[in-house]
Amino acid sequence: MTESQVKKIGVLTSGGDSPGMNAAIRAVVRTANYYHLECFGIREGYSGLMEGNLTKMGARSVKNIINQGGTILKSARSLEFKTKEGRQKAFEQCKKAGIDGLVCIGGDGTFTGAKIFCEEFGIKVIGVPGTIDNDIFGTDNTIGYDTALNTAMEAIDKIRDTATSHNRVFFVEVMGRDAGFIALNSGIATGAIDILIPEREDRIEDLFQNFRKAEQTGKSSSIVVVAEGEKLGNIYDLAQKTKNEFPEFDIRVSTLGHIQRGGSPSCADRVLASRLGYGAVVGLMQGETNVMAGIRANELVYTPIEEAIRKHNEMNGDLMKIAEILAI
Ligand code: F6P
Repeated sequence: MTESQVKKIGVLTSGGDSPGMNAAIRAVVRTANYYHLECFGIREGYSGLMEGNLTKMGARSVKNIINQGGTILKSARSLEFKTKEGRQKAFEQCKKAGIDGLVCIGGDGTFTGAKIFCEEFGIKVIGVPGTIDNDIFGTDNTIGYDTALNTAMEAIDKIRDTATSHNRVFFVEVMGRDAGFIALNSGIATGAIDILIPEREDRIEDLFQNFRKAEQTGKSSSIVVVAEGEKLGNIYDLAQKTKNEFPEFDIRVSTLGHIQRGGSPSCADRVLASRLGYGAVVGLMQGETNVMAGIRANELVYTPIEEAIRKHNEMNGDLMKIAEILAI
């Protein structure tokens, strides 16, 4: 490899955590050590950067974490970093420690901060997509999505057991403030009668129609998977409206919540995180900056952060059709 464009790098996790962030930190630290770059772990995201909360990390400092959920560096959402003064403080800390490259692991909020910081102060930055929501353009999957999906699927399978025993209808809310990837895929994987996602104009009448069809075909219990950010209304209102329309239904609501953000990462997430952590360091060494490392069609690619934030992965139309057909 030609001479590295960076000498000392920092790594941080910011925004909502996701399973596999530790595997990404490990990959960043070990790749940096392999190539003889100094590597600092920055605690609590941009807050830690502003405070100079940095620790030098060697290869052994990331032992036994590839299998752990959460993030050993901790995560935070910093309001101060949104201000010029806050970012100035962060820059002073980078100068003091000699950091010339940053790996920022997180979602679109994290990337927005990284982009502004890079453009204002010239520190090289690379984003690594870590969020369970899978709502980042420039990568087929984000770190943590596969694990969260499997957590949701296992939970919904359990709900189905009790739903069937009692001939009940369950509305199950999964995470996804702005994105329906977890809902659509976990809904297909668990045989949901309907899946409500924020990307689509859902109509309550269509949901009712599905219930009527289900009754006619002899279904005795049903699961409706609802993304947190669904625009039709909150899950309790949806359940109540359904009860008004079908008073004979025995309805329950279950919100899966933050269990989807925890747990040991799946094999797919560990491998993805390892590839992206490696890709981020190698990218910085080669002079990449203001970009995000992603995997598309099994290849490591760098996408301008501006694009990763602005564009959105489309919901797969085939998947939506398949969900509808298989729910009959
Ligand atoms: O960004 C991931 C996500 O899980 C969203 O789907 C959810 O709305 C949000 O985080 C909740 O995060 P918090 O409780 O940390 O604010």
